[in-house]
Amino acid sequence: MVFISETTYNCSYNFLKEKLPAHFHNVRLGIICGSGLGGLVDTIDQSSKVEFPYGDIPGFVTSTVSGHSGKLVFGYLGELKTPTVFMVGRIHLYEGYSPQECTFPVRIMKLLGVETLVVTNACGALNPEFKVGDLMVINDHLSLAAMASQNPLIGPNIESFGPRFPPVSDAYTYALRKLAFRAAFETGISKDDIREGVYTYSSGPMYESRSEARFLKEIGADVVGMSTVHEVLVARHADMKVLGLSLITNPVVTARGKDAKKEVLAEMGIETVVDDEIDTELVKANHAEVLEASANRANDLQRLMTRFADLWAKE
Ligand code: 6GU
Repeated sequence: MVFISETTYNCSYNFLKEKLPAHFHNVRLGIICGSGLGGLVDTIDQSSKVEFPYGDIPGFVTSTVSGHSGKLVFGYLGELKTPTVFMVGRIHLYEGYSPQECTFPVRIMKLLGVETLVVTNACGALNPEFKVGDLMVINDHLSLAAMASQNPLIGPNIESFGPRFPPVSDAYTYALRKLAFRAAFETGISKDDIREGVYTYSSGPMYESRSEARFLKEIGADVVGMSTVHEVLVARHADMKVLGLSLITNPVVTARGKDAKKEVLAEMGIETVVDDEIDTELVKANHAEVLEASANRANDLQRLMTRFADLWAKE
């Protein structure tokens, strides 16, 4: 494995610092825009905005997903004009990048002054009470990958960022979760459309098998995605406060599926089928529905985040 050195992070930070106007030298709020939130940077004051395509920044890798572009944007968010740095387009494990490459921008945010990181994503619902279009404030995560070595904190520890053995028992800051709910209710999101729960992820790019989905549900996850957790680990290691927000774009199939043996026996008149299982062929997850659901909720999410920034700035 190749690990990223402190010098590489510093080089990237110095590049940005040289090019940034002074009012962005100390941005305290960072936002990673997942599917559906990229439009947030189009709603902010355009005259003060500064953008860097990932490809132009030393140390950054580029995002290759359709529906996502890759740039680091600096701008003022909300009525209180909070200086904010946005990652528009995130880097995923399934693109072939290592966990450290994926989370490189999070450490750059830390060096730039970010104290609170908001991480957003699209995900599938394992919890049967959650509906497409619901938002979920993440209150904890389950990281099978990071527990078993797909972990950005593996490798020589960089003490200037944080300790060798960081605790993550309280990764999602309670006060920020409360602010997120307040921002949601104040911007008109109904209490039945916003949840709180546990996020888990797979490296992707495939959506889960039905048995994998049942397994994740049974071990306590409410939603499943393909991102976020490694970013949160790096942020918490560096003592940044974290808010995680998920947008539910599709239900995840956890049904066992139709029983082929029973059906053949019934066709042969040997047994009567009592089979109310759904036809799992008909309910496959797909990227188009994920993009559609996130587009439908984009405005609500943008309003929520803008209000959140104002509440956050007042704290
Ligand atoms: Cl069903 N699974 C995963 N891993 N990520 C997703 C998803 C499902 N739907 C949206 N993102």
